[in-house]
Amino acid sequence: MTEVLPIEKYAGLSDEECEARIVAAKEALGERLVILGHHYQREEVFRHADFSGDSLKLSREAAQSKAEYIVFCGVHFMAEVADILSRPDQISILPDLGAGCSMADMANLANVERAWRELATVLDPDETITPVTYINSAADLKAFCGRHGGIVCTSSNARKVLEWSFAQREKVLFFPDQHLGRNTGYTMGIPLEQMVVWEFDLPMGGLTAQQIRDAKMILWKGFCSVHQMFRPEHIDRFKDKYPDAKIIAHPEAPFEVCQKSDYVGSTEFIIQTVRESAPGTRWLVGTELNLVNRLHEQFKHQDKHVHFMSPTVCMCSTMFRIDPQHLAWTLDNLVAGQVVNQIKVAPEEARLARLALERMLEVSSR
Ligand code: 13P
Ligand code: SF4
Repeated sequence: MTEVLPIEKYAGLSDEECEARIVAAKEALGERLVILGHHYQREEVFRHADFSGDSLKLSREAAQSKAEYIVFCGVHFMAEVADILSRPDQISILPDLGAGCSMADMANLANVERAWRELATVLDPDETITPVTYINSAADLKAFCGRHGGIVCTSSNARKVLEWSFAQREKVLFFPDQHLGRNTGYTMGIPLEQMVVWEFDLPMGGLTAQQIRDAKMILWKGFCSVHQMFRPEHIDRFKDKYPDAKIIAHPEAPFEVCQKSDYVGSTEFIIQTVRESAPGTRWLVGTELNLVNRLHEQFKHQDKHVHFMSPTVCMCSTMFRIDPQHLAWTLDNLVAGQVVNQIKVAPEEARLARLALERMLEVSSR
């Protein structure tokens, strides 16, 4: 058997050399391989994806794929979802194991279980609260939701998932992203006062028993460090200059930003909305920089003007870790019969997480 090719050999290769290797390896592996690419991936990697999409679309692709190897150009939780939803004999791979999601890391099983125990001192959570985890979370939190009658959501199905959740039980514990929870809850008519924030470092989340009893949604105090950089003043300044411009933001952006936006939705929704707009339209876009740059390039020839919302560079540094060097290394190893960076979720955890994910897929296809 051949030995694993070391990553150090690839670190010194140019992007062009990696490009040639990736193309050759894809050809050699043929249908045994599928590459899934999230919209935030850098261009040199994104162009090799067989399928691109938002988290929901890519999880569906992973569930339907027949390929032996699913190489996920995205972040850790996405490769975990691919492993959970694919057949046991398929192999999910993340080219760089350092590609995590800082928001996903803001909730872990220990502090979610503690929250559940503390909530149980006020009410019976298994009777009154549906736990909802954003797909940007570790597999054990999805399993927690599976075990407690809960569900997963993505940015594109959060409303349908919340409607389902409130049909099960009167309250929702939503983690880890407070903004997606608040932005979605508000559009469903839930007043801000009924959406309280659970500060996971404080006893009882920093809430009184009465606040918990009165709340409709309990929002985990997590956020995306990229999307929290967008501010309502950025929109105001842009509108002063271009009063007719359209504003579009991802629901991970703060409430005040989403309130000032004409459209709010997932990465796939953002692309589709700009694509369907009329020539001459000007857009201010509040999401990750690689995607906004791609939109700018793609639509400038149609006389659509795409601008980035923040004056500072907001890139997802973990998405950026997937570079041509790691992709070439991963694929060359597969050609040589070696699997590197496999993402494997333990069987019982995967079973329970699948339950919560399948509930989501069922609810969002209605
Ligand atoms: P989408 O599902 O909208 O692509 O979002 C994923 C994500 O991580 C946004 O920060
Ligand atoms: Fe996570 Fe934010 Fe990066 Fe999305 S953009 S993967 S939420 S850190």
